[in-house]
Amino acid sequence: LSEQFEQVDSILADHAQEQGALLPVLHAIMRSYGYIPGDALGSIAGALSLSRAEVSGVVSFYHDFRSEPAAPDVLKICRAEACQAVGARQLETHAKASLKLGPGDSCHQRGITLEAVYCLGNCACGPSVSINEQLHARVTPEKFDQLMLALDCQRGK
Ligand code: FES
Repeated sequence: LSEQFEQVDSILADHAQEQGALLPVLHAIMRSYGYIPGDALGSIAGALSLSRAEVSGVVSFYHDFRSEPAAPDVLKICRAEACQAVGARQLETHAKASLKLGPGDSCHQRGITLEAVYCLGNCACGPSVSINEQLHARVTPEKFDQLMLALDCQRGK
């Protein structure tokens, strides 16, 4: 493992004797690096007697883990039921297409990371979206495009 990820070895050593250490190890790596480096998957698998595919499968299954660094602006689209009933799923499809999100749900070109969230406490006014923790209600695809334009303007793009 490269020097850049040397903390991974110490995290693995800390959890070496634990039963079911994979999730605690992945959370610790997320806290240290903000993502799970692809270069670390082999070391994690080796240390925990798992296959690389098993580790990779867990990383991609849980929304808490990302496999590449996050872009700086964080966009959350509510995926819970009340928002889905008023178009959150279509909004998410629109957002992913318009931002051309890559693996890890980040658009580095526009500096945006999409994160899953299951209720933003704004259920009566969905679809709900938060951008850098600021809540937006009744977000249609058109309103979403306006919000993205406003975000670009704030950043002087
Ligand atoms: S269900 Fe979307 S904000 Fe609660």
